[in-house]
Amino acid sequence: MKTLVIYYSRTGITKKIGQAIASKIQADTEEIIDLKDRKGAWEYLKAGRDAMKRVPADIADTKNDPAGYDLVVIGTPVWAGNMACAIRTYIGRNKDRIKKLALFCTMGGAGDQNTFNEMESLSGKTVAAKITVRTREAGKPETDARLDEFVRQLSQ
Ligand SMILES: Cc1cc2nc3c(=O)[nH]c(=O)nc-3n(C[C@H](O)[C@H](O)[C@H](O)COP(=O)(O)O)c2cc1C
Repeated sequence: MKTLVIYYSRTGITKKIGQAIASKIQADTEEIIDLKDRKGAWEYLKAGRDAMKRVPADIADTKNDPAGYDLVVIGTPVWAGNMACAIRTYIGRNKDRIKKLALFCTMGGAGDQNTFNEMESLSGKTVAAKITVRTREAGKPETDARLDEFVRQLSQ
């Protein structure tokens, strides 16, 4: 199954998980670039507010057409109980070009269910599989085992 793994990552955790998933299934990857600088304490607060208010971000042009893939896996950090603004833009733009969708998110501790619900509803798709990784769990062997189970679900 030709698969594309899409992710946005502000500090590298979601990127790490996206690349781990992709390497297990030989998927192509693409990082979504938010054109707004999200570094620093003030920007952190604004990012949370934007995510909560469902404000999309301006993003850099993407290289891979999701319509050319059997499956697209999209990952986001949880921001204020929601998806990151750049992922909101990506799903909004590409939802009609995605055949089959799976989701992952990373978070400190809470907000994954609402994030997945919003991503599912924005995409208009029934999601094939979902996985949440807590920031402190990234890179641990038990997380790797959970990612193996996630990719098994993708092939069903
Ligand atoms: C603006 C902002 C809001 C956040 N809100 C939440 C939240 O609601 N719940 C949570 O568990 N973690 C929250 N976090 C923590 C991130 O989801 C977590 O650190 C994530 O793993 C970061 O991924 P990244 O390194 O790919 O950017 C927030 C982080 C940021 C920057």
